[in-house]
Amino acid sequence: MRPAAVQRAALLLGAAVLALAALFGWLVIRERTRAGTAPASGATRFEAHCASCHVAEGLRLRIGGADAARRRELERFLRRHGDAPDADDRLILDYLTRD
Ligand code: HEC
Repeated sequence: MRPAAVQRAALLLGAAVLALAALFGWLVIRERTRAGTAPASGATRFEAHCASCHVAEGLRLRIGGADAARRRELERFLRRHGDAPDADDRLILDYLTRD
């Protein structure tokens, strides 16, 4: 290859590597943003409102397999317990009673 051709090939290769790096960075940022705006789930609600005092697995053992009556009792209990709004309490109970 002539030196000019080698130089051109090197430039093209360098540009391709830069473009791929930029694409990768953009993908990572987009993925992070998406994770940050994920809809509230029982798990994230639990982390926000309960995890400072409870470990999910510990509560799961106590609540596990809650029937309808126990579920109502727990909803009533959580209205006074913890600082989560009622809608979040229900998400958290779904999360804790799911097998
Ligand atoms: C400030 C600390 C604190 C926070 C925050 C907190 N708890 Fe508790 N929780 C306690 C304590 C203390 C008890 C009573 C001792 C025990 O049973 O472990 C308790 C008891 C419970 C019980 C047992 C009730 C029963 O009938 O067995 C459940 C279920 C429970 N908490 C769920 C939650 C949930 C769900 C959240 C989040 C919305 C939450 N807690 C937030 C401290 C906390």
